[in-house]
Amino acid sequence: MKRRTKMWTLLSLTLLVLVAAACGKSEDKKTSGSTSDISLGFAQVGAESGWRTANTNSIKDSASEAGFDLKFSDAQQKQENQIKAIRTFIQQKVDVIAFSPVVESGWDTVLKEAKDAGIPVILTDRAVDSKDESLYVTFIGSDFVEEGKKAGQWLSDQYKDASADVNIVELQGTTGSAPAIDRKAGFEEAIKGNSHLKIIASQTGDFTRAKGKEVMQAFLKANPKIDVLYAHNDDMALGAIQAIEAAGLKPGVDIKIISVDAVHDGMQAASEGKINYIVECNPLLGPQLMDAVRDVLAGKTIEKRIVTKEGTFTSEEAKAALPDRKY
Ligand code: AHR
Repeated sequence: MKRRTKMWTLLSLTLLVLVAAACGKSEDKKTSGSTSDISLGFAQVGAESGWRTANTNSIKDSASEAGFDLKFSDAQQKQENQIKAIRTFIQQKVDVIAFSPVVESGWDTVLKEAKDAGIPVILTDRAVDSKDESLYVTFIGSDFVEEGKKAGQWLSDQYKDASADVNIVELQGTTGSAPAIDRKAGFEEAIKGNSHLKIIASQTGDFTRAKGKEVMQAFLKANPKIDVLYAHNDDMALGAIQAIEAAGLKPGVDIKIISVDAVHDGMQAASEGKINYIVECNPLLGPQLMDAVRDVLAGKTIEKRIVTKEGTFTSEEAKAALPDRKY
């Protein structure tokens, strides 16, 4: 009897030590600042643009500098691939999941699965339209409505004394994505005070150069008089420039061009006068994301919305800024 009691005491003690060690390990991650065993699952949109490449590089470099174990997945612009990746991260029991949602809607179920598994989710670059804000910790990224407004405001100023209609064609980003929805809304809001500014055609170019070219060719064929192109990103504007030149027209002169991003190739085109105005969208979100990962694991309160600071560039400003551009 005595021997049995001793055995139970020994077993209970061993169990206690094991539990304490396990708790200590997760406590370490939260408080000690040790990063080597922190795993971050990141579900990227794809590789559709120069902006996205710069964003991916920023995330990979910052994760490696922070010493995190980054599990990176490329969804090739498909929501179902991102959902699959997030489910894999949940199975792998990563410490934090981050992702840039390809479209705004349809995330509640998978985000609830992450929440039930106790894994915090951070949104970067693009937002979701979930009503339940407890499904994610924070959203780090640009204000896309503001970007659209800046583009529209510049155009309104350029044509403030117009006495005839100004025909605008619009190349939208990926249908259903936050930047496409918001950049359109912001632009329309900013030009609505000038009744001469008319959007005569608007179609998606899926944020890619190839689609931008293809859709611009169709715009040129269908519309004899195009004064302005508003492209939701540089890559589509660059594709459209090829179409405009192939049609024997001068981009930036015969057709004024406004775009968003300010990546290297866009800035190059702007410095050559082919793009007249670029609204910046900063892809270097890696450092802010890694800070947020550290903070959330340390149990700190994080702002629900972290907005990236951004500027604008005329052709002259692009020329001056180009040599020091990081992406
Ligand atoms: O979500 C940001 C947008 O996605 C960028 O403006 C565009 O270039 C990218 O594909």
